[in-house]
Amino acid sequence: MSCQKITVSTASASSTGYAVLIEDSSYPWEYLSKLHEKFRKEKKQVALITDSNMKRCYKAALDELRDEGWPILAIAAGEGHKNAATKEKIETFLFKNKITRSSTVVALGGGVVGDLVGFVAATFMRGISWQSLPSSIVAMVDASIGGKTGIDTPFGKNLVGSFHNPKEVYISLALLSTLREKEYRNGFAEVAKHALIADRALYQFLKKNIENIQRRDMKTLQAIVRKNVLIKKNVVTEDERESGLRRILNFGHTVGHGLEWLSAFKLSHGEAVSIGMAAEAYFSYKLGLLSHADFQRIVELLSCLGLRASMPAWSHGKIPEPYKACLLDKKASASVFCFSAIQSIGRMHAAGGEYLLHLERRQFLLLMRDFCGQLPFAKT
Ligand code: GLY
Repeated sequence: MSCQKITVSTASASSTGYAVLIEDSSYPWEYLSKLHEKFRKEKKQVALITDSNMKRCYKAALDELRDEGWPILAIAAGEGHKNAATKEKIETFLFKNKITRSSTVVALGGGVVGDLVGFVAATFMRGISWQSLPSSIVAMVDASIGGKTGIDTPFGKNLVGSFHNPKEVYISLALLSTLREKEYRNGFAEVAKHALIADRALYQFLKKNIENIQRRDMKTLQAIVRKNVLIKKNVVTEDERESGLRRILNFGHTVGHGLEWLSAFKLSHGEAVSIGMAAEAYFSYKLGLLSHADFQRIVELLSCLGLRASMPAWSHGKIPEPYKACLLDKKASASVFCFSAIQSIGRMHAAGGEYLLHLERRQFLLLMRDFCGQLPFAKT
């Protein structure tokens, strides 16, 4: 049993930064009990927000925490609930439980819970502190680090939000044991993304450890999560507010968010981002930035990880629609498709420090049609 600590310091985090603790074998219940005891002694009120998936898997442990005095709200799980209505539900719960400015709210769950709770914490009484206990691969390696919080709106994904860093992130790898296979696998889209944008050695490590990943080997997961936290930390430390370098974290996300939106969230974030990375890598290749061999290696890695690389069948004959959907993305400016291009495995194209390229509609449609010709449409 071991616990590793990584400190993330950014311009807006307190001078000491915030700790990311990675615990390899124990569940977070003892951590939460101690946290409650600490806040009780300090006479501070706390609340725990989780979701229906966590409640299904860990009902007994959550009941015990409730008996110890934790007020607990389990929101409905899923991206479809990351909206203003759920935000209001959480706020009502906090008001009813007398949460004040000196209180802390704790998020226990995947990226949706973290994004929502972080955003509530950013605005509740003009800002209270929050802690993140991520339960999914995506939340552990990406969403819980870097302070992005927010909700989806009828006009697009993550369009209302705030930067609000957590006070501490506690990663309990044991929680991965109950993650559904599809969610576990799709989480590796963000892991692959980190390798592709910043770390060729991680790309090699992933390729060598496909079987260990599939059987959820704890030592392998610990190494992967640690490496990913460090990659994300390095990027957000240099560019917290996404004025340049942080845009590389959006690799695959312009096309990905568009597809996710078009599918009405039937495609999960990981599935959509995986297709998005293949598409944006193809655009990079066609623009003369990436070699064809690296494009093929990228598609191969995604497929070894059990991820999708080709466009879904329902998008066949509807290529202009992804363009419109991609324009809903925050990165689109003046109705032009924007994406971060890849130069080689482990390195993004700097584009003069902007880390962003623009494609006119005609160019996008040609590239997208070409991409669809390269990789046959998937059946679903
Ligand atoms: N998930 C992308 C970012 O944190 O910037």
